[in-house]
Amino acid sequence: MQDSDRKSVSILGATGSVGGSTVDLLLANPERFSVKALTGGRNVARLAELSRALRPEFVAIADPSCYGALKEALSGSGIEIAAGDEAVCEAADRPADWVMAAIVGCAGLLPTLTAVRRGATVALANKECLVSAGHIMMREVAGAGATLLPVDSEHNAIFQVFEQDRREAIDKIVLTASGGPFREATLAEMAGKSPAEAVAHPRWDMGAKISVDSATMMNKGLEVIEAAHLFALPEDRIDVLVHPESIIHSLVAYRDGSVLAQLGTPDMRTPISYALAWPERMQTNVRPLDLSEIATLTFSAPDMQRFPALALARAALRSGGAMPAVLNAANEIAVEGFLSGKLGFTGIAELVEEVMAAVDPAAPGTIDDVIGLDREIRGEAARRLERRAAADLSLTEADSAIEIGAGRL
Ligand SMILES: NC(=O)c1ccc[n+]([C@@H]2O[C@H](COP(=O)([O-])OP(=O)(O)OC[C@H]3O[C@@H](n4cnc5c(N)ncnc54)[C@H](OP(=O)(O)O)[C@@H]3O)[C@@H](O)[C@H]2O)c1
Repeated sequence: MQDSDRKSVSILGATGSVGGSTVDLLLANPERFSVKALTGGRNVARLAELSRALRPEFVAIADPSCYGALKEALSGSGIEIAAGDEAVCEAADRPADWVMAAIVGCAGLLPTLTAVRRGATVALANKECLVSAGHIMMREVAGAGATLLPVDSEHNAIFQVFEQDRREAIDKIVLTASGGPFREATLAEMAGKSPAEAVAHPRWDMGAKISVDSATMMNKGLEVIEAAHLFALPEDRIDVLVHPESIIHSLVAYRDGSVLAQLGTPDMRTPISYALAWPERMQTNVRPLDLSEIATLTFSAPDMQRFPALALARAALRSGGAMPAVLNAANEIAVEGFLSGKLGFTGIAELVEEVMAAVDPAAPGTIDDVIGLDREIRGEAARRLERRAAADLSLTEADSAIEIGAGRL
């Protein structure tokens, strides 16, 4: 087969979980795809391993200090190598037909936008960029004639059953949620949960940030905002339904009473393959769904008291303007704080709420505005995080002083 017969693809965030599932599909179908560019953040060994397996033309690593190690690891390969944020954008700019946007967090905003601006087909996993800059991003997609294909399993499910030409027949969409590892935990129990417990997701094997978001259910809140942009629906027409088995990936309710859903084994290779082959479908090695084996599917409404992050995201979407970007930036800092042991689990939503209540920035009109806002809110959230950590420490010290005092008595 000629190289020109193969679809050329690039993966932004190749070293991550979604990146890895995408790589699996490419390696299983070498006759269908050629690889233009790969990017990673800091994981040199993994990026080098993937590059040797996939033979891209260009590889970029975001952290400039990793350049030497990557160059050495790929010496003699003939692969062009670069480092830094601009190099990651250059990877997105290389003329691949299809780009997987799978960088985590707002760091993926500019690279994703770069691929959008050259009119590529962009498979979007990086939900944070739609949360922070949804209106701007959708305007850029339309302006450049780019194609945005949702990869998040819920949005991909909706995309598969959403009759775009009969929008007026649609009543609402329903995003399903596994409920995460603390679905049945009380708030008091959640307060003591460790990062290791939070990232141990019962159904999905994902990166650390989205796993924590899943545990707080902020992930579902971010997905509500993402869905509002992708499907042009208001907040009150996007429901959330807890479905721990993660078999029904989401639903579209039509006004005639029909509800269409997409089902499948929880495996990211299904939605990724749908985006990769779109508008066709392709064979995958995903375990076939056997409903008789699963036997029971269960559902419940989300508990907004125990999962306040979901309510905060809904409030941010209703407020509009800068609030979704504020929510996202504060959450990224809060999750980092939790993962590094500076903040307790329930402190994540508390910190996000505190930041949302404290600031009232103007709505960003351009991508530069979004980037400036993101930086400012990260600073604000980081200062508040440090203050909380210092207060917690002095409380702990006071507690141990009481214990020591008590011991002396
Ligand atoms: N995992 C899932 O099943 C899943 C499902 C739906 C949606 N998503 C979304 O997909 C995105 C990726 O999730 P993931 O689970 O794959 O995350 P992940 O495993 O943590 O991978 C994140 C990727 O982003 C790269 N990265 C991190 N910081 C970067 C920076 N500053 N600049 C450039 N690249 C950077 C990482 O590079 P290094 O590792 O080399 O540092 C890695 O390649 C997230 O937005 C998530 O919400 C994920």
